[in-house]
Amino acid sequence: MNRATAEADHISMAGGYSLATRGAKHVIDHALPRVRAAIEALPLAEGRPFVMSDMGTADGGTSLSMVADALGMARARQPARGLWMVYCDQQGNDYNTLAGNVYGEDSPLSGIADCHVTMSATSFYRQILPAGSLDLGFSATAMHWLSRKPADISDHVHMTGASGLELAAFRDQGHRDWRTILLHRATELAPGGRLVLVNFGKDEEGRYLGNTEGVPMFDSFNALWQSFLDEGQITADEYRAMTLPQYYNTVEEFSAPLTDPSEPAYQAGLRLEAIETRVTPCPYRLAFEGHGDASRFAREYIPTLRSWTQSTFHGALSPTRTADERRALIEAYYYDYERMVRQAPSGHGMDYVHIYMTVRKDG
Ligand SMILES: C[S@@+](CC[C@H](N)C(=O)[O-])C[C@H]1O[C@@H](n2cnc3c(N)ncnc32)[C@H](O)[C@@H]1O
Repeated sequence: MNRATAEADHISMAGGYSLATRGAKHVIDHALPRVRAAIEALPLAEGRPFVMSDMGTADGGTSLSMVADALGMARARQPARGLWMVYCDQQGNDYNTLAGNVYGEDSPLSGIADCHVTMSATSFYRQILPAGSLDLGFSATAMHWLSRKPADISDHVHMTGASGLELAAFRDQGHRDWRTILLHRATELAPGGRLVLVNFGKDEEGRYLGNTEGVPMFDSFNALWQSFLDEGQITADEYRAMTLPQYYNTVEEFSAPLTDPSEPAYQAGLRLEAIETRVTPCPYRLAFEGHGDASRFAREYIPTLRSWTQSTFHGALSPTRTADERRALIEAYYYDYERMVRQAPSGHGMDYVHIYMTVRKDG
């Protein structure tokens, strides 16, 4: 088992994020034509650098080649203009690995002249950059994380398994948070600036992460956690506290603040230029279809699930437990998940379901 042990920061990614999440890079690579088209459409500005942000970048490894391409393209359009790349995440992020990836000798950014790279630990729920300064804001697979957990779900670990008032609480929070994100970006963007956002969501067929065909991933997470409760390994409070603070918007929910003239984001000048949904197949399942080795599949697949869930599982465990006890429970949980996949691999996998958007700031 992967023994990465991120501390209980609510939603921090486990160490070695980009190594464990090959699929996330495929998702970003697919956004490149959209990023290129957005840069091509930007107004040619003078007297200030071209500014790009990557919000929720984690260790920067999954977006690095896209960012290098985008900056190269901005340079080719305006060779005399400086470049300023701002990597953003929250305070608990692994900034050391990020720094190694983007400033290291092997970084494709290090060879670009007059290219200035900075890191910001400002949440995307706040204004990150000065008003009117941002040319291209990018974000992938990050904005489904809510600013707060609006409720504990009594019988599931994720809002896709919630119902009634609990689901309504997540929907309200998701709608509020999406508008907050957009309004801050409306302030940051220069006139004519663009956002390229690649977010988890629910597509037109009701598909979402790990729930395209085969074994529904969030139900597996929940069934295992429930078995820990049934066996007396965790308490009822710990079971309920394991609620991921996420919301998956639909195309309509993502679009509404950008198409309805009564919405503050629309009034602030944001316009939806394009929106599409896309399923990116789980690379570990695809590889398994080729090699057929169930143990290898389970061993390679579980770290990608673990990279973004373990801090929430860890945080759900009572603070009265010793650190060793908590670590042992987390190890046992992912060990059981790995065993479940090894014993019956068919249907497991984490296909990504994303909603790709381009947004323009008018003005
Ligand atoms: C699944 S990773 C995505 C990393 C990378 N963008 C990619 O697509 O591979 C999600 C990232 O979003 C970050 N994140 C979550 N909430 C955030 C917030 N409010 N502000 C900034 N980053 C946030 C997490 O810390 C994590 O690094």
